[in-house]
Amino acid sequence: MKNGEFMKHRIRVWDLPTRIFHWALVLCIVALVTTGEIGADMLPWHFRVGYAVLSLLLFRIVWGFIGGRWSRFASFVHRPSTVLAYLRGQVRPEHAVGHNPLGAGSVLAMLFFLLAQVGSGLFSDDEITSSGPLAKQVSNASVSLATNYHANIGKIILIVLVLLHVGAIVFYRVKKQQNLVPPMLHGDKELEQPMEGSRDDVGSRALAALVFVLCAALVAWGVQWAG
Ligand code: HEM
Ligand code: HEM
Repeated sequence: MKNGEFMKHRIRVWDLPTRIFHWALVLCIVALVTTGEIGADMLPWHFRVGYAVLSLLLFRIVWGFIGGRWSRFASFVHRPSTVLAYLRGQVRPEHAVGHNPLGAGSVLAMLFFLLAQVGSGLFSDDEITSSGPLAKQVSNASVSLATNYHANIGKIILIVLVLLHVGAIVFYRVKKQQNLVPPMLHGDKELEQPMEGSRDDVGSRALAALVFVLCAALVAWGVQWAG
């Protein structure tokens, strides 16, 4: 090592299941906004992709407890005081590894509003051909409320959150010279100091596959039961 050159430590931050979750989610959301806007004949596909997103979200919630070190909620759910301290410049070494305290807020908001979008979709009705599988279980007034939220409010909230998310990534690239995208592709970050990595081996990947299959089975069973 030359003088002044710091040794970099390459660590696994995003395990493969988290990366697959992310890019599958991106594809599904693009498909959902497209099929939702077209409506009518595309709604059966809108529903199928919606169930895939529900399975992905259930998987991510479970993975937030049992997944790799940096995918766990415990590593990125912070007290408001920590977020304020981070904004005032008190950056701890672990903030450079997974989601930083501010980014974590945007991740949690996206997960919450995605769940609200799927939840309201289950009760929505386009008043032409298709209705969500739970629409017939509740009153017309509730279906109207859910549909209004789904088609007018939740949709806008999600589009704004995704624009902020992508905007933040561009901001880090341009203003902070940090490219956050490659770690979401290959999983690794190069850090100034050694840090514990996320587990990402055959065993943890098999566990993730099993959890996802169980989440998808639960969703399929729920849809059958409702229909
Ligand atoms: C529909 C669009 C998108 C949605 C719903 C979305 C959602 C999310 C979510 C939920 C996470 C947290 C990952 C986790 O911990 O499980 C995340 C992280 C991330 N996303 Fe996206 N994303 C979208 C588009 C994109 C695009 C287009 C890019 C690339 C330009 C991108 C790059 C990233 C990166 C780099 C992270 C990690 C951020 C960090 O280091 O804290 N996302 N995204
Ligand atoms: C994150 C997941 C979802 C997203 C992002 C999403 C997005 C959208 C969008 C953008 C529209 C068009 C709204 C408009 O008229 O402008 C729509 C319509 C609709 N969605 Fe979803 N959707 C999701 C999940 C679901 C699910 C799981 C269901 C039901 C199983 C569902 C049922 C419907 C129905 C019935 C409509 C037609 C509403 C109307 O015409 O007023 N959606 N969705």
